[in-house]
Formats: sequence, structure tokens, C-alpha cells
Amino acid sequence: MTDPATDPRTDTPPGAPADHRWPTGVVGLGYGGDYNPEQWPLETQLEDVELMQQAGVNLVSVAIFAWATIEPREGEYHFDWLDDVLDRLHAAGIRVALATATASPPPWLTARHPEILPRLADGTVLWQGGRQAYSVTHPVFRRYATAMAARIAERYADHPALALWHIDNEIGCHVPRDYSDAAAAAFRDWLRARYGTVDALNDAWGTAFWSQRYGDVADVLPPFTAPTYPNPTQQLDFDRFSSDAMLDYYRDLRDAVRQHTPHVPVTTNFMTSTSTKGMDYFGWAREVDVVATDHYTVAADEEREVELALSADLTRGVARGRPWILMEHSTSAVNWQPRNRPKAPGEMLRNSLAHVARGADSVMFFQWRQSVAGAEKYHSAMVPHAGTDSEVWRGTLGLGRALEALAEVRGSRVRADVALVFDYEAWWAVELDSHPSVDVTYVDRMRAYHRELWRRGVTVDVVEPGADLTGYRLVLVPTLYLVRDEHAAAITRAAEDGATVVVTYFSGIVDEHDHVRPGGYPGAFRELLGVRTEEFAPLLAGEQVALDDGTSVSVWTEKVHLAGATAVRTLASGPLAGTPALTRRTVGSGAAWYEAARLDDVALSRLVDALLGETRVQPAAAAPPGVEVVRRHGEQHSYLFVLNHTDAEHRVPADGTDLLTGTTHQGEVPVPAWGAVVVREG
Ligand code: GLA
Repeated sequence: MTDPATDPRTDTPPGAPADHRWPTGVVGLGYGGDYNPEQWPLETQLEDVELMQQAGVNLVSVAIFAWATIEPREGEYHFDWLDDVLDRLHAAGIRVALATATASPPPWLTARHPEILPRLADGTVLWQGGRQAYSVTHPVFRRYATAMAARIAERYADHPALALWHIDNEIGCHVPRDYSDAAAAAFRDWLRARYGTVDALNDAWGTAFWSQRYGDVADVLPPFTAPTYPNPTQQLDFDRFSSDAMLDYYRDLRDAVRQHTPHVPVTTNFMTSTSTKGMDYFGWAREVDVVATDHYTVAADEEREVELALSADLTRGVARGRPWILMEHSTSAVNWQPRNRPKAPGEMLRNSLAHVARGADSVMFFQWRQSVAGAEKYHSAMVPHAGTDSEVWRGTLGLGRALEALAEVRGSRVRADVALVFDYEAWWAVELDSHPSVDVTYVDRMRAYHRELWRRGVTVDVVEPGADLTGYRLVLVPTLYLVRDEHAAAITRAAEDGATVVVTYFSGIVDEHDHVRPGGYPGAFRELLGVRTEEFAPLLAGEQVALDDGTSVSVWTEKVHLAGATAVRTLASGPLAGTPALTRRTVGSGAAWYEAARLDDVALSRLVDALLGETRVQPAAAAPPGVEVVRRHGEQHSYLFVLNHTDAEHRVPADGTDLLTGTTHQGEVPVPAWGAVVVREG
């Protein structure tokens, strides 16, 4: 057994905490992608390694979908090809994130054990033939998967290329909620552990309603498709259980590989973004040695660089500020959106550097070489169908050079004065059915505030409820519908200690069991905000109500009364004319604002100006519209990332050396249209 602290293969940056784990032997920033050599003849595999060296690739994920190649028939193992692949990569100095090969069970397994197949809420079986056709809770699948992970770990424990374990792949990507019999049984066990008695479960679920009282936990089912809304707390608990069950599966595989390789860090690729809500990644992050995530922009999203920034900030939050791995993104088009537009010139480089700017110390892709067969043959890769005479390949080479030039950035940290409180449970709960308005979604306000701050060059930390808020000057609490008492108290304390806190409508409404906090909304934040709402008044689709300054609101208003707060904006028309839409209360040395109605973009922009004015929070640099600025802080230098998302050259005030070109600038730095600079300061 090797001690990770003294293992020469563990390349830890200066100043990193003692338990910092990173793919062993990766020097500088990690660069590479998923590598699926089992799809290619030897000749191509030989070329792969040469091209990887040309591009500066130093880390690849191998064997993610290799189970059926390794074990084509039960008990018949073919490892020779994988031995050769790892040997070749090692000889070329390329480190390997080795997968457990469990992400897609081979056909013989599901044919022989159809009971391991997952089910949808209406009972539909998800058959073999795609991927991820397994139920994480099924003991038979667990046995086979853990055995495969252990077998691979045993075989490659001492392989010199092994840098990191990559457990399964995007666990929960296709089947975040499984309603199979195995899942139902595991759900009941989870409930027994959570509640102890059936009475406690009945209380938590409010089963006096609609004759739902259980006499025995054995009668509980997952929230199947029912004649009408299934019990909301049952649904919420099923969300919690499902996240825990998938994590439990991860843990089993992790422990199986750790047993053989305690010196090798372990991760699994998360999907931290504003569209994946199935897994509570704040909890999951406690179980990985290093946070890794996959992120794909949506071509039809005109603000995709802003969504990317928020997702990257969320990943840094999930990683609790430590460097993380971008395990997958795309060089150009994907294959799974309705219209798969390629990336625009410079977009791949800007996307990559935006992740690095926000804390990624590795940039990787799905995938190394574009497949010619299978469902992902139209998904871009680092080596495209067109071969090396292509923009995509030149982009791959260019990014390799850029990351090499940025090697010293590794280990530096992002700092922010603004915290945005984010909670997966609140996301699950607020989007349950039978609510006041279908137009209230979890990410809407979060994206809106983050966007306003992104436009102003202000960096935001995304933090979990209950996080230490000390030092943040501005704390944003968007749509925290479900909140625990202690978490609401921490937010209140932040205001008392001098922060400006902003809470948006439909926050603080229910406790952890999804029971309303009575006595006037928003129960948990009523006192902090100095307001009391007697009734919600959501608006109809497309309806707008004017405010007293000529701006407007849509989606949401409420009959809110002042109870210590001051009205900053009021509704100017409609049945609630004169009712506050935005309020402020001074709290100790801080303040608490309440967005009681959904402000339009102009009103929100004015609010954010006021918030930055009162908190004196500064941007990373004064940048023109469309130019993204973020700073990382190292032990000796800081690094200003400037990403120009516009078609014109711009200048940004900065002093120092652009690491990408080696040019030193004084006073201001030119940033080419669609380009990027990274300035080493100080
Ligand atoms: C996910 C998966 C990959 C691949 C990509 C395509 O991220 O992990 O295997 O399917 O999507 O975008």
C-alpha cells in the first residue's frame, strides 16, 4: 500500500490541502478526452497515440463502455487489447483515467438477467440495446458490476499509466429515477432507515390527506404514474432516495477499486448544469477524491456562454473551491440536440478557457476520435471524420498549446464576494406538481441574477445551504422554496453580520417535509425580510403588470404586506395596484431585499446596480458588454481571464503578460474578436 502523501506519482500543487487528490503524474493542466480504442483497428490506435502527442494530450479516459469487449461471454475475459492500449499510452507519457467498464452492461447480462432492467414511472421496462440499461439497486447487477470493477482494479493496480479511477459514467444520466421492483424494495429500506416507524413516515408525508395513511412500510411503492398527483413528500423522498441509491452504487464500485489501489484517486463524472437535477452533487462530492464534471452547451441557447459560466461556478461550488476536472465537453456539434450546430470560430477555445477561468484544472472531451458507427457518429470529437486537415483538429492542437502555456495556473483559486445559495432538494421540491404556477421554475431566477452579474464581470460562488457565508458581501437566495430551519438561520445571520441578502419569491415556503410554514409567506424568511404575504397571485401566461417606475413584472405577484421592510417598487396596475413588488429592510449592519414579483430584465438590472452599489462589490475588470472577465489567484500571481464573445476587438484594463502569446501589456490588454487572453498579473 502506498501513502498518497508520499507517493511520487501524486503531483500536488504547492499550497494544496493535505487531502487534495489529483490524477497522479499529470503535469500542468490535464488535457484529453474519452478514448474508445475498442472501436478501431490497431493501425488507427497507433496513429491515435502519435496524434495525442502532437496535440499535447496528457490524460485520457479509457474503457468506459468496454464491458462487452472485455467480457463478450460470461466469464470469458479479453484484457490483452486493453493491456496494449495502456502500455502504448504509458510509453507515450499519457496518463489514464481508467473506467470500471460498467456504464453499459453487455447484452448477455441483461438477456440472462432481465430483472436488472430499470423501469419508468408507468412501469415501462427500459430494455438493452442502448446503454445504462441497469437498475443500480438490483443486487444481481451490483454483484456483476462490483466484480468487474474489482477485476479491472486488480489487473491494472500497478500499471504505471493509471492516474485516476473513473467510476461508471454519468451515473443517472439516462435513468435518474428507476421504478423497478428492486428500486421499490430499496426505497422501503431507505424509508425505514429515515423514519424508523410507519407513524413517523405518515406524519412526514401528511397521509391523513386523501386516505393515504400506511399501516406498514411494506405497502409503500415508488410514486408511480397515478390517477392524479402522487403524494408530494413521497415524490420528494423518492428523489432523495434515488440520488442516495445511485451514490451508494458509486461507493460500492469506488470501494472495490480502492481496495486494490489506495494510492489512486477516484472520481465519477458529474453533470453539474442548470438542466440536470437528478443527483445531489453537493452530497456526492464528499465521496469523490476529485470533482469531475461534463458540460455541454445548447446550440439554441443564445446565452450559452453565460449558462456555461453558471454551471462552472456550480461545479466549483460542488468542489468546495478546489480545482476540478472538466471531464467532457464537445469540440463542436453534439448529436443529441434537435439541430446540432457546430461551434462558431473560437467558441471551443473560449468554452474551454471559461471552465479553466472558473476553476477547472483539466479540459477533456467526449471524445478523442469521432466514431464511424453507433448513435454518436455525428457527435464531434478531437479528431473529426474529416481527419487532420480540419478546423476541429487545428482547434485541438491550438487548445493543447494554450493549456501548455497556462500550466502555471494550476492550483490557483477563484475568489468571489457574491454567494448564490443553491440546493438540489429545493429544486426537486419547487418543481413538484400542483403548485401555484407552472411558470415558477428553479433555475429561472438563479440564471437571471447570475446573468446580470456575469454581464458586469462580477464573479459568483455557488454554495449549498448551510455553507459558511462569512465574508460574502452579497448573498443571493433564488427560489429556495424548501428550506431547513438551520439553513434559513444561517442566511439570516449573514444579513445580521453585514451582508446584503436577496431572497426571491416562492422561497422559504416549506420545511424539509414539504409542509407549508404557516402564518404568512415566506414563512422561513418573513422576519428577515420584514414582510408578510397572505396570498399568492401568480399571473396568467404572457400577462404583465406595470411597476411604478415604468418597468414590469410577469409570472408572479403576491399580496404582500410590509412588516418592517420598505417598498422599493410597487405594482402600478391590476387588482394588486399599490402592493410591493420589491422590498428592502435594513438588518443589523446588512440588508435583506425581497423580490416579491418576477422583475423584468430592466427592473432586475436596476436592482443589481443598486445591490452592487450598496455592497461595493467590484468586477474582476471593467470590461465592455460581451467580454467575460474572471480572475484566479495563485501563490505568487493572479491570472485575469478575458474572453471576448463578440465580433469586435476590445481593450480591457490590465497589466501583465498574456500567457497565450507571451506579450506584456501595460494599462490595457487588447482582446481579439471571438478571442481570449490570460494575463499573469503581479
Ligand atoms: C455524455 C456521455 C458520453 C457521450 C456524451 C455525448 O456526456 O458521458 O459518453 O454520450 O454525453 O455528448
